[in-house]
Amino acid sequence: MRLGDCHNFHDFRELAQRRLPGPIFNYIDGAADDEVTLRRNSESFERCDLVPNVLRGAGSVDMSVTVMGQKLAMPVYCSPTALQRLFHHTGERAVAAAAEKFGTMFGVSSLGTTSLEELRKAHQTPQVYQFYFHRDRGLNRAMMQRAKGAGVNVMMLTVDSITGGNRERDLRTGFSIPFRLTLAGMMQFALKPMWGINYVTHEGFKLPQLDEHVDMSGGAMSIGRYFTEMLDPAMNWDDVAAMVREWDGQFCLKGVMSVEDARRAVDIGCTGIILSNHGGRQLDGSRAAFDQLAEIVDAVGDRIDVMMDGGIQRGTHVLKALSLGAKAVGVGRFYLYPLAAAGQAGVERALGLMRTEIERGMKLMGATSVSQLTRENLRFR
Ligand code: LAC
Repeated sequence: MRLGDCHNFHDFRELAQRRLPGPIFNYIDGAADDEVTLRRNSESFERCDLVPNVLRGAGSVDMSVTVMGQKLAMPVYCSPTALQRLFHHTGERAVAAAAEKFGTMFGVSSLGTTSLEELRKAHQTPQVYQFYFHRDRGLNRAMMQRAKGAGVNVMMLTVDSITGGNRERDLRTGFSIPFRLTLAGMMQFALKPMWGINYVTHEGFKLPQLDEHVDMSGGAMSIGRYFTEMLDPAMNWDDVAAMVREWDGQFCLKGVMSVEDARRAVDIGCTGIILSNHGGRQLDGSRAAFDQLAEIVDAVGDRIDVMMDGGIQRGTHVLKALSLGAKAVGVGRFYLYPLAAAGQAGVERALGLMRTEIERGMKLMGATSVSQLTRENLRFR
């Protein structure tokens, strides 16, 4: 199987599985507890049908959107994800370059393996910075100033990860940073020598968003310790309100799921919210973002940009979310499997397939622009 044989999400997933050592593949592929929410995320799109309009002269379509002040050529952006260099030695550089080619936004994680400054200098396309809230308020301020100074366009605070999800696949393999592989996990690395050769013959693994601020030397400060010792699980709406004032720009919360929280996000001056259950990786049993979308758009959609992520595998999934009122949708595994499978060429192929599917879908729906997709175009079973 080669890149040219990949025609959809499932093909990329299969190719990624062939190339990655088991523990790394399972880190991407897995989710919390029984992975119920992971499955629900994709299934949620199947409980709802598109109702097309015909004979509207939809010869060409404009799928651009404006979200959080950023004009995107397509309504799908690459959500921030951690540790990309482990998936392919080109990591974030490949994803950012591919996003730029498609005129869309990409995210840099606090746990990213390329510096936000380097990526900001290398690319014109809008950049999101994914932020965790630390106990040390001075550190929060310093990290925000660093992002501001670099020219980051959108601040994205993750609010669904004040403690780690129960990822049982990772417990079995021993996946952690630094690695604490189980014997079975180690054996799986031995089965994928090409990955190992690529990994050791390229630039060393780093966490440049953190190493300036956090002592990760000698493995003394592992990511696990970073989460438990440095992040503040007691963060509340007042803390975030202060951050929003301090940032004084586009600021969104990722992981809002209730109408009440969406209203509070508006009240404290956020410009966006992302309905998300973190790809099913945090609270298992949590509702799919797509199922919550209509209620939240109805409550706050005229005052804040509502986005969503989780389970997007097809252009028609995107059309369904846009019809319900999402301003744009984020993808994670959708570009991570292609990254793992083939680096930048993989991500470009995936985004290209997505763009083609959205374009074809809009034509078949009779919509020449995203604003023409409305609730009239959807029926829930
Ligand atoms: C995860 C965190 C790091 O889902 O966002 O693995």
